[in-house]
Amino acid sequence: MTSPLLELDGVTKRFGRVVIAEDLSLAVGTGDTVGIVGPNGAGKTSLFGLISGDLAPGGGEVRFAGRTVTKLDAAARCRLGIGRTYQVPRPFGDMTVFENLLVAAQQGGGLRRRASYTAAAAALERAGISGQANVPAERLGLLQRKRLELARALATQPTLLLLDEVAGGLTDPEVAQLVEIVRGVNAEGTAVIWIEHVVRALTPVVSRLICLTSGKFVGDGDPATVLADPAVREVFLGSEVTAALAGGAPEAPAAGPPDGAAGGERSEP
Ligand SMILES: Nc1ncnc2c1ncn2[C@@H]1O[C@H](COP(=O)(O)OP(=O)(O)O)[C@@H](O)[C@H]1O
Ligand SMILES: [Mg+2]
Repeated sequence: MTSPLLELDGVTKRFGRVVIAEDLSLAVGTGDTVGIVGPNGAGKTSLFGLISGDLAPGGGEVRFAGRTVTKLDAAARCRLGIGRTYQVPRPFGDMTVFENLLVAAQQGGGLRRRASYTAAAAALERAGISGQANVPAERLGLLQRKRLELARALATQPTLLLLDEVAGGLTDPEVAQLVEIVRGVNAEGTAVIWIEHVVRALTPVVSRLICLTSGKFVGDGDPATVLADPAVREVFLGSEVTAALAGGAPEAPAAGPPDGAAGGERSEP
Protein backbone atom coordinates (compact mmCIF):
# COMPACT_ATOMS: atom_id res chain seq x y z
CA MET A 1 0.00 0.00 0.00
CA THR A 2 1.32 3.44 -0.85
CA SER A 3 1.52 5.95 1.98
CA PRO A 4 -0.81 8.96 1.98
CA LEU A 5 0.40 12.28 0.60
CA LEU A 6 -0.11 13.99 3.97
CA GLU A 7 -0.20 12.40 7.40
CA LEU A 8 -0.70 14.00 10.77
CA ASP A 9 0.07 11.62 13.58
CA GLY A 10 -1.02 12.62 17.06
CA VAL A 11 -0.30 16.31 16.49
CA THR A 12 -0.79 18.54 19.51
CA LYS A 13 -0.44 22.29 19.84
CA ARG A 14 -1.25 24.68 22.67
CA PHE A 15 -1.07 28.43 23.01
CA GLY A 16 -0.75 28.80 26.77
CA ARG A 17 -3.83 27.06 28.12
CA VAL A 18 -5.68 27.14 24.79
CA VAL A 19 -5.48 23.76 23.08
CA ILE A 20 -5.72 24.37 19.35
CA ALA A 21 -4.78 20.84 18.24
CA GLU A 22 -5.40 17.91 20.52
CA ASP A 23 -3.82 14.67 19.38
CA LEU A 24 -4.95 15.18 15.78
CA SER A 25 -4.42 12.41 13.27
CA LEU A 26 -5.30 12.76 9.62
CA ALA A 27 -4.37 11.11 6.33
CA VAL A 28 -4.96 12.77 2.97
CA GLY A 29 -4.19 11.00 -0.29
CA THR A 30 -2.92 12.29 -3.62
CA GLY A 31 -5.65 14.24 -5.39
CA ASP A 32 -8.06 14.06 -2.44
CA THR A 33 -10.48 16.89 -1.67
CA VAL A 34 -11.16 17.63 1.99
CA GLY A 35 -13.28 20.42 3.45
CA ILE A 36 -12.78 21.68 6.98
CA VAL A 37 -15.46 23.55 8.88
CA GLY A 38 -15.56 24.70 12.46
CA PRO A 39 -16.44 27.66 14.64
CA ASN A 40 -14.31 30.74 15.05
CA GLY A 41 -11.25 29.96 17.13
CA ALA A 42 -11.58 26.19 16.58
CA GLY A 43 -7.98 25.96 15.41
CA LYS A 44 -8.58 25.69 11.66
CA THR A 45 -6.00 28.24 10.55
CA SER A 46 -3.59 26.89 13.15
CA LEU A 47 -4.05 23.41 11.67
CA PHE A 48 -2.87 24.82 8.34
CA GLY A 49 0.07 26.37 10.17
CA LEU A 50 0.99 22.95 11.54
CA ILE A 51 0.74 21.39 8.07
CA SER A 52 2.53 24.19 6.22
CA GLY A 53 5.28 24.67 8.79
CA ASP A 54 4.29 28.12 10.04
CA LEU A 55 3.67 26.52 13.44
CA ALA A 56 5.78 23.90 15.19
CA PRO A 57 3.70 21.27 17.00
CA GLY A 58 4.14 20.60 20.72
CA GLY A 59 3.90 16.89 19.97
CA GLY A 60 3.26 14.42 17.19
CA GLU A 61 4.50 14.08 13.63
CA VAL A 62 3.72 15.56 10.24
CA ARG A 63 4.63 13.51 7.16
CA PHE A 64 4.40 14.64 3.59
CA ALA A 65 5.18 12.80 0.38
CA GLY A 66 6.87 9.98 2.22
CA ARG A 67 9.06 12.01 4.54
CA THR A 68 8.82 13.40 8.02
CA VAL A 69 8.59 17.18 7.79
CA THR A 70 7.80 18.01 11.42
CA LYS A 71 11.03 19.95 11.84
CA LEU A 72 11.08 21.57 8.40
CA ASP A 73 10.14 25.24 8.13
CA ALA A 74 7.43 26.63 5.84
CA ALA A 75 9.83 27.46 3.00
CA ALA A 76 11.17 23.92 2.88
CA ARG A 77 7.70 22.39 3.02
CA CYS A 78 6.51 24.70 0.26
CA ARG A 79 9.32 23.46 -1.96
CA LEU A 80 8.22 19.90 -1.27
CA GLY A 81 4.77 20.79 -2.61
CA ILE A 82 2.65 22.25 0.20
CA GLY A 83 1.08 25.48 -1.04
CA ARG A 84 -1.24 27.59 1.07
CA THR A 85 -3.35 30.70 0.96
CA TYR A 86 -3.82 33.02 3.93
CA GLN A 87 -7.14 34.07 5.36
CA VAL A 88 -6.10 37.71 5.02
CA PRO A 89 -4.15 38.06 1.76
CA ARG A 90 -0.99 40.11 2.08
CA PRO A 91 0.54 40.36 -1.38
CA PHE A 92 3.48 42.63 -2.05
CA GLY A 93 1.31 45.70 -2.70
CA ASP A 94 3.76 47.75 -4.72
CA MET A 95 4.63 44.83 -6.99
CA THR A 96 2.48 43.85 -9.96
CA VAL A 97 0.34 40.75 -9.94
CA PHE A 98 2.81 38.98 -12.21
CA GLU A 99 5.79 39.98 -10.07
CA ASN A 100 3.99 38.59 -7.02
CA LEU A 101 3.59 35.29 -8.85
CA LEU A 102 7.24 35.23 -9.90
CA VAL A 103 8.30 35.68 -6.28
CA ALA A 104 5.99 32.81 -5.29
CA ALA A 105 7.35 30.55 -8.04
CA GLN A 106 11.00 31.35 -7.31
CA GLN A 107 11.05 31.75 -3.53
CA GLY A 108 8.15 29.45 -2.66
CA GLY A 109 8.43 26.87 -5.40
CA GLY A 110 12.21 27.02 -5.74
CA LEU A 111 11.92 27.32 -9.51
CA ARG A 112 14.64 28.76 -11.69
CA ARG A 113 14.05 31.82 -13.83
CA ARG A 114 12.64 30.21 -16.96
CA ALA A 115 10.45 27.69 -15.13
CA SER A 116 9.23 30.41 -12.78
CA TYR A 117 7.89 32.49 -15.69
CA THR A 118 6.01 29.46 -17.00
CA ALA A 119 4.60 28.66 -13.57
CA ALA A 120 3.62 32.31 -12.94
CA ALA A 121 1.88 32.55 -16.32
CA ALA A 122 0.02 29.28 -15.73
CA ALA A 123 -1.12 30.43 -12.28
CA LEU A 124 -2.25 33.77 -13.70
CA GLU A 125 -4.31 32.00 -16.33
CA ARG A 126 -5.66 29.38 -13.94
CA ALA A 127 -6.84 31.99 -11.43
CA GLY A 128 -8.46 34.08 -14.15
CA ILE A 129 -6.46 37.24 -13.52
CA SER A 130 -4.49 37.47 -16.77
CA GLY A 131 -6.01 40.89 -17.40
CA GLN A 132 -4.47 42.18 -14.15
CA ALA A 133 -0.93 40.88 -14.76
CA ASN A 134 0.63 44.33 -14.77
CA VAL A 135 -1.54 45.91 -12.09
CA PRO A 136 0.08 46.67 -8.72
CA ALA A 137 -1.42 44.22 -6.20
CA GLU A 138 -2.49 47.06 -3.88
CA ARG A 139 -4.95 48.25 -6.51
CA LEU A 140 -6.89 44.98 -6.68
CA GLY A 141 -10.44 44.66 -5.34
CA LEU A 142 -11.50 41.87 -2.99
CA LEU A 143 -12.28 39.20 -5.61
CA GLN A 144 -9.06 39.84 -7.51
CA ARG A 145 -7.05 39.82 -4.27
CA LYS A 146 -8.57 36.45 -3.39
CA ARG A 147 -7.69 35.19 -6.85
CA LEU A 148 -4.15 36.52 -6.55
CA GLU A 149 -3.82 34.76 -3.21
CA LEU A 150 -4.88 31.52 -4.88
CA ALA A 151 -2.58 32.17 -7.84
CA ARG A 152 0.37 32.79 -5.50
CA ALA A 153 -0.17 29.36 -3.95
CA LEU A 154 -0.56 27.77 -7.40
CA ALA A 155 2.64 29.39 -8.70
CA THR A 156 4.61 27.35 -6.15
CA GLN A 157 3.32 24.26 -8.02
CA PRO A 158 1.80 22.48 -5.04
CA THR A 159 0.74 18.84 -4.91
CA LEU A 160 -1.22 19.80 -1.79
CA LEU A 161 -3.15 23.08 -1.82
CA LEU A 162 -4.38 24.52 1.48
CA LEU A 163 -7.15 27.10 1.05
CA ASP A 164 -8.05 29.22 4.08
CA GLU A 165 -11.45 30.91 3.66
CA VAL A 166 -10.87 32.06 0.10
CA ALA A 167 -14.62 32.40 -0.48
CA GLY A 168 -15.29 34.64 2.52
CA GLY A 169 -16.80 37.98 1.52
CA LEU A 170 -17.48 37.03 -2.11
CA THR A 171 -20.87 37.16 -3.83
CA ASP A 172 -22.57 33.95 -4.96
CA PRO A 173 -21.47 34.25 -8.64
CA GLU A 174 -17.92 34.99 -7.46
CA VAL A 175 -18.00 31.91 -5.21
CA ALA A 176 -19.21 29.82 -8.16
CA GLN A 177 -16.27 31.02 -10.28
CA LEU A 178 -13.85 30.21 -7.48
CA VAL A 179 -15.33 26.74 -7.12
CA GLU A 180 -14.72 26.10 -10.82
CA ILE A 181 -11.10 27.17 -10.51
CA VAL A 182 -10.49 24.89 -7.52
CA ARG A 183 -12.17 21.98 -9.31
CA GLY A 184 -9.90 22.54 -12.29
CA VAL A 185 -6.80 22.56 -10.10
CA ASN A 186 -7.91 19.36 -8.39
CA ALA A 187 -8.73 17.71 -11.72
CA GLU A 188 -5.05 18.03 -12.58
CA GLY A 189 -4.15 15.93 -9.55
CA THR A 190 -3.53 18.49 -6.80
CA ALA A 191 -4.95 17.49 -3.43
CA VAL A 192 -7.02 20.22 -1.80
CA ILE A 193 -7.79 20.91 1.84
CA TRP A 194 -10.22 23.79 2.03
CA ILE A 195 -11.19 25.59 5.23
CA GLU A 196 -14.39 27.43 4.55
CA HIS A 197 -17.23 28.99 6.43
CA VAL A 198 -19.15 29.28 3.16
CA VAL A 199 -20.31 25.66 3.10
CA ARG A 200 -22.04 26.00 -0.28
CA ALA A 201 -18.59 26.60 -1.77
CA LEU A 202 -17.24 23.39 -0.25
CA THR A 203 -19.89 20.86 -1.07
CA PRO A 204 -19.49 20.96 -4.88
CA VAL A 205 -15.75 20.36 -4.50
CA VAL A 206 -14.97 18.12 -1.54
CA SER A 207 -15.66 14.42 -1.21
CA ARG A 208 -14.81 14.46 2.47
CA LEU A 209 -15.74 16.92 5.20
CA ILE A 210 -14.18 17.31 8.64
CA CYS A 211 -15.49 19.43 11.48
CA LEU A 212 -12.94 20.87 13.87
CA THR A 213 -13.90 22.30 17.22
CA SER A 214 -11.65 23.18 20.16
CA GLY A 215 -8.72 21.47 18.46
CA LYS A 216 -10.57 18.18 17.94
CA PHE A 217 -12.25 16.53 14.96
CA VAL A 218 -15.92 15.84 15.68
CA GLY A 219 -16.94 14.57 12.25
CA ASP A 220 -15.07 13.09 9.31
CA GLY A 221 -16.67 11.52 6.26
CA ASP A 222 -18.75 12.30 3.22
CA PRO A 223 -20.22 15.82 3.49
CA ALA A 224 -23.88 14.78 3.74
CA THR A 225 -23.15 12.36 6.58
CA VAL A 226 -20.96 14.81 8.47
CA LEU A 227 -23.48 17.63 8.10
CA ALA A 228 -26.21 15.32 9.43
CA ASP A 229 -24.10 14.27 12.43
CA PRO A 230 -25.81 15.51 15.63
CA ALA A 231 -22.42 16.40 17.16
CA VAL A 232 -21.61 18.58 14.12
CA ARG A 233 -25.08 20.14 14.14
CA GLU A 234 -24.57 21.01 17.77
CA VAL A 235 -21.38 22.91 16.87
CA PHE A 236 -23.13 24.78 14.08
CA LEU A 237 -26.50 25.43 15.63
CA GLY A 238 -28.08 28.42 13.92
CA SER A 239 -25.34 28.78 11.32
CA GLU A 240 -25.14 28.32 7.58
CA VAL A 241 -24.41 24.62 7.98
CA THR A 242 -27.83 24.17 9.56
CA ALA A 243 -29.44 26.01 6.63
CA ALA A 244 -27.54 23.88 4.11
CA LEU A 245 -28.56 20.76 6.01
CA ALA A 246 -32.21 21.67 6.04
CA GLY A 247 -32.01 22.23 2.29
CA GLY A 248 -32.98 25.81 3.03
CA ALA A 249 -31.83 28.89 1.20
CA PRO A 250 -28.04 28.70 1.27
CA GLU A 251 -27.88 32.34 0.23
CA ALA A 252 -29.57 33.44 3.43
CA PRO A 253 -27.14 35.18 5.76
CA ALA A 254 -26.09 32.93 8.59
CA ALA A 255 -28.06 33.62 11.73
CA GLY A 256 -24.99 33.16 13.91
CA PRO A 257 -21.90 32.92 11.77
CA PRO A 258 -19.34 30.72 13.49
CA ASP A 259 -16.51 32.72 12.01
CA GLY A 260 -15.64 36.36 11.70
CA ALA A 261 -15.50 36.06 7.92
CA ALA A 262 -19.20 35.54 7.32
CA GLY A 263 -20.15 34.16 3.93
CA GLY A 264 -22.93 36.51 2.94
CA GLU A 265 -21.14 39.70 3.84
CA ARG A 266 -18.23 41.71 2.61
CA SER A 267 -16.00 40.92 5.51
CA GLU A 268 -12.52 41.71 4.33
CA PRO A 269 -10.75 44.42 6.33
N1 LIG B 1 0.13 32.82 17.50
C1 LIG B 1 -0.83 32.66 18.42
N2 LIG B 1 -0.59 32.89 19.72
C2 LIG B 1 -1.56 32.70 20.66
N3 LIG B 1 -2.80 32.28 20.37
C3 LIG B 1 -3.10 32.06 19.08
C4 LIG B 1 -2.14 32.23 18.04
N4 LIG B 1 -2.74 31.91 16.86
C5 LIG B 1 -4.01 31.56 17.17
N5 LIG B 1 -4.22 31.64 18.50
C6 LIG B 1 -5.47 31.28 19.18
O1 LIG B 1 -5.72 29.94 18.88
C7 LIG B 1 -7.11 29.73 18.69
C8 LIG B 1 -7.35 29.14 17.31
O2 LIG B 1 -7.10 30.14 16.32
P1 LIG B 1 -7.25 29.85 14.77
O3 LIG B 1 -6.44 28.66 14.41
O4 LIG B 1 -6.97 31.11 14.05
O5 LIG B 1 -8.79 29.47 14.67
P2 LIG B 1 -9.78 29.44 13.43
O6 LIG B 1 -9.01 29.58 12.16
O7 LIG B 1 -10.49 28.13 13.55
O8 LIG B 1 -10.73 30.59 13.64
C9 LIG B 1 -7.78 31.06 18.92
O9 LIG B 1 -8.23 31.11 20.25
C10 LIG B 1 -6.67 32.05 18.68
O10 LIG B 1 -6.88 33.23 19.40
MG1 LIG C 1 -9.04 30.92 10.61
